[in-house]
Amino acid sequence: MLDRDTVALDDPVAESLRGRHAHLARRLGRAAGYLPEVASFSTVSGDPDPAEWDDLARLLGRGGFADLFSCPATPPADWEPIFALDGLQMVFLAPGATGRAGRADVTHVAHVEPGSELVELGADDVPEMLDLTARTRPGPFWPRTLELGTYLGIRENGALVAMAGERLRPPGWTEISAVCTAPEARGRGYASRLVDALVTHITARNERPFLHVAEANTSAIALYERLGFAFRKRVTFRGFRTP
Ligand SMILES: CC(C)(COP(=O)(O)OP(=O)(O)OC[C@H]1O[C@@H](n2cnc3c(N)ncnc32)[C@H](O)[C@@H]1OP(=O)(O)O)[C@@H](O)C(=O)NCCC(=O)NCCS
Repeated sequence: MLDRDTVALDDPVAESLRGRHAHLARRLGRAAGYLPEVASFSTVSGDPDPAEWDDLARLLGRGGFADLFSCPATPPADWEPIFALDGLQMVFLAPGATGRAGRADVTHVAHVEPGSELVELGADDVPEMLDLTARTRPGPFWPRTLELGTYLGIRENGALVAMAGERLRPPGWTEISAVCTAPEARGRGYASRLVDALVTHITARNERPFLHVAEANTSAIALYERLGFAFRKRVTFRGFRTP
């Protein structure tokens, strides 16, 4: 059931840069990456030759950073590995689909803390978003990342305490990303509310949500499963320094 229309998720960075995010791309030959400050993801074709890796190195500059988690190929030996972390790609199963969780399981998302409000975030909120992501480390977030899609936040007495947003946009799909809640505001259902709101937003335009999560982040995986996401494939979050 999962495989028929999920091919676009095999290299979602390439698919996004070719399509919905073409205006946020920089390219050289078949190598491509996001503009600096938007995202550090880059990719090459499925069967790159040395010239294509040279193109990507030139695109990123000498000693540049390449986040290649989505890229199917492994760079040449002179690209210095910076980090590697096991992760999962999960896809949203439509309500009623067979899976380990369904949206009917979600009962706590309607909970609203007194004094809290769910808001759409914009350019003026970026300093607070950078601060929150620096404190909670949900994954990379840069000054222009919110140009990738819709970002929602929860404010408690005015202060941003939780957020989540849309990142990669391969055809027919939208990735949910930067899901995080300040340590002092956890366990109040904020992440659940935000992810659920984004699922509603994405499915309303006939797209399907997906996401990536570190394999060791078992509490986040459990949260996503409760909200209706299921495992699709393993990924390796991996960064390299160009020669
Ligand atoms: C993962 C993370 C986003 C969860 O945020 P959160 O706002 O606490 O999430 P929720 O409150 O919606 O759900 C978390 C837990 O609280 C429980 N909960 C939800 N609503 C609740 C409520 N009203 N009262 C008490 N508990 C509640 C949930 O059942 C869930 O239980 P669990 O402890 O078994 O997981 C947060 O821990 C975080 O920011 N982690 C660091 C960044 C990160 O890893 N992000 C994910 C990247 S993929």
